[in-house]
Amino acid sequence: MKSGFNVEISDLYQTVKHLQENGCAFQYFEGPGFDGRTITVNNRKLLHFASCSYLGLETHPVLINGSVEAVRRYGTQTPSSRAMLSSPLYRELEEQLKLIFPGHVIVTQTVTLAHCSVLPLLIGEKDAIILDAYVHNSVRMASQLCRANGTFIIVSRHNDMEHVRYLIYRLKKDGYRNIWYCADGIYSIHGNMCDVAGLQKLLDEEENFYAYVDDAHGTGWCGKNGSGYVIGSYGLHEKMIVVESFAKSMVSSGGGIVVPDRLIADYIGLTGQTMIFSGPIQPAILGSLVACVKLHLTGEIAAYQNELLGLIRYLRQRSRSLGLPVVTNDETPIQLLRIGSMEKTYRVLKGLIERGYFPMTAGYPAIAKGDEGIRITVTRHLTKEDIDGFLSSVQELI
Ligand SMILES: Cc1ncc(COP(=O)(O)O)c(C=O)c1O
Repeated sequence: MKSGFNVEISDLYQTVKHLQENGCAFQYFEGPGFDGRTITVNNRKLLHFASCSYLGLETHPVLINGSVEAVRRYGTQTPSSRAMLSSPLYRELEEQLKLIFPGHVIVTQTVTLAHCSVLPLLIGEKDAIILDAYVHNSVRMASQLCRANGTFIIVSRHNDMEHVRYLIYRLKKDGYRNIWYCADGIYSIHGNMCDVAGLQKLLDEEENFYAYVDDAHGTGWCGKNGSGYVIGSYGLHEKMIVVESFAKSMVSSGGGIVVPDRLIADYIGLTGQTMIFSGPIQPAILGSLVACVKLHLTGEIAAYQNELLGLIRYLRQRSRSLGLPVVTNDETPIQLLRIGSMEKTYRVLKGLIERGYFPMTAGYPAIAKGDEGIRITVTRHLTKEDIDGFLSSVQELI
């Protein structure tokens, strides 16, 4: 394929373009509003099985009011670097987050920008990074900044702590000072959970070994007050940094870097590159986020979390009884159905859209060739009947 620039167009482009032209990716929804459950795409009303609003809070009146009120008070943006000045909403947010998360929380504009601040700051040329084979692309991108600074990077077998142990042994033998393992709390395509218990054991046993875990898909929908999968289930290990996302289940935007050590938290907060050189979160988002965090401190959230868990269990149990190829072993809102090739996956996806469903494609390179399939996300907007209809359609199509 030729362009006016002397640039090689990758195979990924062909794949994504094909998905876009078939109505499966890079689409726009139509209509005057958004209710979280149904969307109209290309004049067809579809049930939304590709949303990360796991608790279904984006239409919650308390969050909407928080956002509107914040814009009225503070305008559309506070156009100063946080290195100079932040809106009082930031202080309120940071105070509220202390009630949910242990250690120290640094708020960032996005999770990707959190990675870009933390990794190059804490990991240097004498250090090595072990990337889990399926760690999110945003962590990989940030690890490239470390590579440019001279850090050695190696990939471990997915979620295999014995392999990580072996790599630590090899890297120590090669003389690396600190070794960092980067993983996701809940893997964004497969939907499985990181072996945090195994990882914490390694952290206890191995000197100069640290972990950096992106729990973007774990935040909010689980853990006490939405403290997430990693912290909610295992607490915060003294040699671990966990990044939370406020853009998925918490339906706002931004990230929270949870750090056990006060000095390191201050170091990141005051000198992280994206803390200084990127703009702040807009008042509209800060307002909804403050409201969302406050909501997570009430009993309302535990009830929503239970409702969601009920739907996840229902989907898994129905999938099993229909004999569907569910890859995900864990009870998380992300469930992957293995179809086995991109061609078959397209066919199933097109059939699902024709029958009124909008799920996500899991294709190479996000997933290994031969493991392609349909990635479903369960949200509280959906009903058991919606899930039944979806699964029966998948069964017919495969
Ligand atoms: C696991 C994970 N980490 C990070 C990100 C990126 O988050 P952000 O858009 O806040 O940079 C995503 C986005 O989808 C994700 O799934």
